[in-house]
Amino acid sequence: MQIQSKLPNVGTTIFSIMSKMALEHNAINLSQGFPDFPLSAELIDGVHHYMKEGMNQYAPMPGVPVLRQRISEKLNRAYGISVDMDTEITVTSGAIEAINSAMTAVINAGDEVIIMDPAYDAYEPIINVNGAKAIGVSLTQPDYGIDWESVKARVSDKTRMILINSPHNPSGAIITAEDLRQLEALTRGTDILVLSDEVYEHIVFDGQEHQSVLRSPELRQRSIVTYSFGKTFHATGWRIGYMITPPELMAEIRKVHQYNTFTVHTPTQYAIADHLENPVNYESIAAMYQQKRDYFLEQMKDSRFVPVKASGTYFQLMNYSQISDMPDTEMAEWLTKEHGVASIPMSIFYQDRQDNKVLRFCFAKGEETLKAAAEILCKI
Ligand SMILES: Cc1ncc(COP(=O)(O)O)c(C=O)c1O
Repeated sequence: MQIQSKLPNVGTTIFSIMSKMALEHNAINLSQGFPDFPLSAELIDGVHHYMKEGMNQYAPMPGVPVLRQRISEKLNRAYGISVDMDTEITVTSGAIEAINSAMTAVINAGDEVIIMDPAYDAYEPIINVNGAKAIGVSLTQPDYGIDWESVKARVSDKTRMILINSPHNPSGAIITAEDLRQLEALTRGTDILVLSDEVYEHIVFDGQEHQSVLRSPELRQRSIVTYSFGKTFHATGWRIGYMITPPELMAEIRKVHQYNTFTVHTPTQYAIADHLENPVNYESIAAMYQQKRDYFLEQMKDSRFVPVKASGTYFQLMNYSQISDMPDTEMAEWLTKEHGVASIPMSIFYQDRQDNKVLRFCFAKGEETLKAAAEILCKI
């Protein structure tokens, strides 16, 4: 039987490959972006509680009302905005389902979607499977900023959407209020939508503020904004996130969401709703991750790896050009197999697979793990 692949160039994700390799070689896994420390016992108890209470059947398609209510309160607290829980919030199976349902609803065959290059690896396949094309605009070096003149140059009459991601995976860069002004100016008077992937909204360092597109009344009208409780509550395996968009767009996106996953694990939704009652539960994570970043950098200070400044996320880029001119994919494999530390080669995040001799390390790990990894890396 001949199968006509819709994604002929997509294989197993590098995250699965590197995690498998890390396991096989008993390496410290700083590759895939998942925390290795426990989540709140209270949150776990909450899920048990609601299971025992019998909250085990289908939740309403957009999410349980109390959770959407708490999300609305959280957005008001964080960004000073009023969001309608009935028409503007949908709870999804992780941010990835939000991105997938949103794109499937609004992207048509032949459209173009501008993405920043490098980018989180899921965007392009989702664009492609909908028959559209991803147009990569290179982020500036060395700070991974957005060059708005370059973005403008790539806008065409086929541009349906501009996709931004801040705090940015893989670089850890964040956008500024000025970036929002530039995006407003660029999209004003057009039908271009914005997808703003803000899954690391609460992981921003050094006293800086997360610049959500929701802060801009103008951008909010054309934006779909995606979030992840997996990232915020160190529970990436729970697969729960949400999206915010104006009612007309949400009505279209829910048509896809309802036949995609329909709804999300009911007891977890109730438990998260309770957990959101105390803002400390999410507002404290920036300080926790900043401490980890600083600890990892301190442990790495005598190494020949050169860190790239990270303002957010739980990823730290390291340039190894002082050590080797090996391609980054080989370097990542060699470090895993021969030295026992797994990372992700940056080239996989670029459309053209450009190799700048940079590896991405995830520091969402306990101090012992970070110390052990740094000890190995400092000897290389
Ligand atoms: C930038 C970015 N967007 C979306 C996601 C997906 O989030 P979730 O696990 O909630 O689906 C990730 C996960 O790594 C990510 O890094």
